[in-house]
Amino acid sequence: MTLNWDNPLALPNTSVQSRPELDRNKSVTLITDKAVDQGEAVEQVEKNNTEPSLEYPASDTHFVQSLTFGDSANDSDSGSQRRATHPTQETTSLAQTPPATLKASLSARRREVGEQQPFTPMKPINSEDKRVINGLGDINQLAPFKYPWAWEFFINANKNHWTPLDINMAQDVSDYHHKLKPEERHVYENVLAYLTTSDILAMRNIGLAVMEKMTAPELQIYQARQVYEEALHTWTYQHCIETIGLDQSEIYNRYRVVPEINQKIQIANRRLNAVMRSDIDLRQPDDLQEFVLSYAFFSGIFEGCWFYNGFSPVFALQRRGLMKGTAEQLQYIMRDEVMHCSFGIRVVRQIMQEENVILDPRDIRDMWDEAEAAEVAYSKFLLPTPILGYSQQDHHEQFRFIANRRARSLGMEEPFPGAKNALPWLDEQSNMRKEKNFFETRVTEYQTGGALKWE
Ligand SMILES: [Fe+2]
Ligand SMILES: [Fe+2]
Repeated sequence: MTLNWDNPLALPNTSVQSRPELDRNKSVTLITDKAVDQGEAVEQVEKNNTEPSLEYPASDTHFVQSLTFGDSANDSDSGSQRRATHPTQETTSLAQTPPATLKASLSARRREVGEQQPFTPMKPINSEDKRVINGLGDINQLAPFKYPWAWEFFINANKNHWTPLDINMAQDVSDYHHKLKPEERHVYENVLAYLTTSDILAMRNIGLAVMEKMTAPELQIYQARQVYEEALHTWTYQHCIETIGLDQSEIYNRYRVVPEINQKIQIANRRLNAVMRSDIDLRQPDDLQEFVLSYAFFSGIFEGCWFYNGFSPVFALQRRGLMKGTAEQLQYIMRDEVMHCSFGIRVVRQIMQEENVILDPRDIRDMWDEAEAAEVAYSKFLLPTPILGYSQQDHHEQFRFIANRRARSLGMEEPFPGAKNALPWLDEQSNMRKEKNFFETRVTEYQTGGALKWE
């Protein structure tokens, strides 16, 4: 039996007749996670170059149960001996592995359940039945839409498709090693160190804390795309770190040892964990307030300010012709983040309207003040001395300016009245149409970004 090595996760479509090369007495090695980590699995396959053995995690019973070995009519007598071995057992053989017994018993159970619950036609879903949270609609039924704007977000998100491999990083390698000053390398490395940890947190927030609470599928579908995009962003930072040749372990561990980076992550973690509780009940006013405040923080501050502002030191280098590949990567990420921010704010406002949520002004004030204090500390660490065209004061003032913009979108008072646009080039930088550069690279079929609209 061979796996599809181009797609090793695909379930093998096995049958003895269609796989004449299968030696049913051949020993099958179950490779433990430890062995995979240590590369023994690869070595073993290389040694047995003629025919890779069937490999699957011994502990993955779902996977094992999904497999059908051989002809069930002929194999049914070997029955229970074919169960997956305990993870501590190193080997088993096909002769000891059960045939279709498990599958048959599961099917029988499903039939029983079906017989106990006869089908009755259900009332059609109307769009009015839907709510962002606490809705009674059918989460598996996309239309009729109640929130067509959410579907539009999904369509637009697919117009900004790229991968980090599409962007030429060659000049960045030279710039980093030969042109950047020590204080510029410090900025570059720490921007990556902060962003890469943040994007994993962003992925967990939307995928684990937010998405499951939505009760309209058109919202979840965009959020599913957002989860993918956050993972793509993490890949992008990793690609930059690898390409430049930075010490990965050192970069990824910075948030553990640099208090100014750690503080921002801790704030976000606290708000994430507050709404990832298994006992949260959005029909309870306190829990609902907590969730709305958390989502407002993530969309308005974490993505809308900290990410939006977080790219700008690298854009400042780009304006001087430095680290242009990294900056281009960040421009694509920024496009995504602007949409994440806009979508999240719209959802927050929709929830507040539907559920009659009125946030406590003291909670909102605390949120802005805490975010500003963390950003000031971070900017002082990032820019102990200014780099050409960018200073700690610029970073701080721009945070206040963007925070006012996000607050207005959220329907809140401006937290920092009178804040100035310290980086007037930033919006232009983020909104830059990339078609020309993009078409000069190799993946023209991805590019449909000309249809994107920006705030
Ligand atoms: Fe992201
Ligand atoms: Fe995001």
